[in-house]
Amino acid sequence: MTDIPDLRPPSGGHLALAGWIVLIVLGSTGIALFAASKITKPLELLENATSNVGPDGLLAHIPETGAGEIRATAKALNDLSVRLKFAMESRMRLVAAAGHDLRTPMTRMRLRAEFVEDEEERTKWLADLEELDVIADSAIELVREEIGGETLSPVELGHLIHEVAEELHEVGLKVEMPPAVSLTVAAKPLALKRALRNLVTNAATHGGGATMEIRQQGNNAILVILDQGPGIPEELIHQVFEPFFRVDMARRRTLPGAGLGLAIAREIIERFDGTITIANRQPNGLAQTVMLPLVESTHGVFSLT
Ligand SMILES: Nc1ncnc2c1ncn2[C@@H]1O[C@H](COP(=O)(O)OP(=O)(O)O)[C@@H](O)[C@H]1O
Ligand SMILES: [Mg+2]
Repeated sequence: MTDIPDLRPPSGGHLALAGWIVLIVLGSTGIALFAASKITKPLELLENATSNVGPDGLLAHIPETGAGEIRATAKALNDLSVRLKFAMESRMRLVAAAGHDLRTPMTRMRLRAEFVEDEEERTKWLADLEELDVIADSAIELVREEIGGETLSPVELGHLIHEVAEELHEVGLKVEMPPAVSLTVAAKPLALKRALRNLVTNAATHGGGATMEIRQQGNNAILVILDQGPGIPEELIHQVFEPFFRVDMARRRTLPGAGLGLAIAREIIERFDGTITIANRQPNGLAQTVMLPLVESTHGVFSLT
């Protein structure tokens, strides 16, 4: 008889095996987690970057720090943002140049239109040319806003809106003077004035007359421009900020405007971290509400944050 060798694992071997298995599982989980974090960090960065697209349509600058992949992703996004900005600005310049170049042939056409014999025909020609003029002007204005160079400073909102009201009142628009309130916001004064002028003009023209409310709410200044006109049909109101939007194309004969006023106003107000909302009032009329963060005022010294 031959002895059968004892092939069973040495006593305590199960434990060692289990130990190895646990070690392998833990090790591979660790490696998997490490790899996953390497992949997801840049993805998180991408997600954050896309959810932080500014009002100008550009990505916020991402700090190029951290591990290799993150730094590379951040750099790629930043480069993309710079290229987009460049492309957008050159597009904008193109729009401005087109608006500008249209003026010369338009002047020639206007001169020629003056010689149209038929009175009715002549008036129509001149009215159409007038409208073209407004569109070209607004396009140029929109671009100026996009790449304008005024500096940010403390602006007394109550004072500014008073100036706007006075100006429009002088040209015969129905504008009630706003209450005198002292609220200071950080903005580029000329740009903000242009934005507010567009809003008050809307209430005075499309809405038949403007009234204003101005107050403080928490850390914000709230300016509401009200009218009692027809308002905007609910099914169209979400489009008001789109360039060239007009409720009723037929109305363009009676009220000049290119449908760019609100697009420009929003562009400006969002630049200063503000918001603008537009809503119909009951029973009729429109409320245009502007909210701008107040500038902290300590002992008369303004701090722009
Ligand atoms: N206060 C208002 N009441 C009624 N309709 C308005 C008012 N404000 C704006 N709208 C409508 O929204 C359109 C877009 O306004 P806006 O962008 O300022 O362009 P514009 O005034 O040059 O036509 C206007 O053409 C008008 O139809
Ligand atoms: Mg307007």
